[in-house]
Amino acid sequence: MHVAVVNGPNLNLLGVREPERYGTTTLAEIERAVRARAREHGVEISWGQSNHEGALVDAIQALRGQADGALVNAAAYTHTSIAVRDALLAAGVPFVEVHLTNPWAREEERRRSLLADLAVGIVAGFGAESYLLGLDGIVGWLKGHARMPGR
Ligand code: DQA
Repeated sequence: MHVAVVNGPNLNLLGVREPERYGTTTLAEIERAVRARAREHGVEISWGQSNHEGALVDAIQALRGQADGALVNAAAYTHTSIAVRDALLAAGVPFVEVHLTNPWAREEERRRSLLADLAVGIVAGFGAESYLLGLDGIVGWLKGHARMPGR
């Protein structure tokens, strides 16, 4: 089983970016923790981050037939990007939407996700732990559902 983790803009700055809001754990530390949890599940992980909308679209398109599931923290593009939404629809890969913070408890413009209704589920507000909870969630969901054709 292969789970892809897709990270959007500014998440490369975790650890230094608004630490009072996002915590002091870096994205590399989150990646290590996710990979360790994935090993316990016997799951392969691929990991990516981009600050660019088109690069995220390319990465999501490439998941089709390659990943059984995904964790998606599209960061600010969660709230704005029809292109990321369309890529997730086109890829057809079941995913969990992940956020470190709870955007629904923040400013008005963050209280809308263009991705949420496509997601298997959402984990938000648990800091870096959101990724681990999301991984547990998608793995459990995938184990209960048919795998992608061709894999
Ligand atoms: C975020 C929440 C978004 O609103 C914000 O733009 C981010 C990070 C989160 O993980 O809490 O960059 O996705």
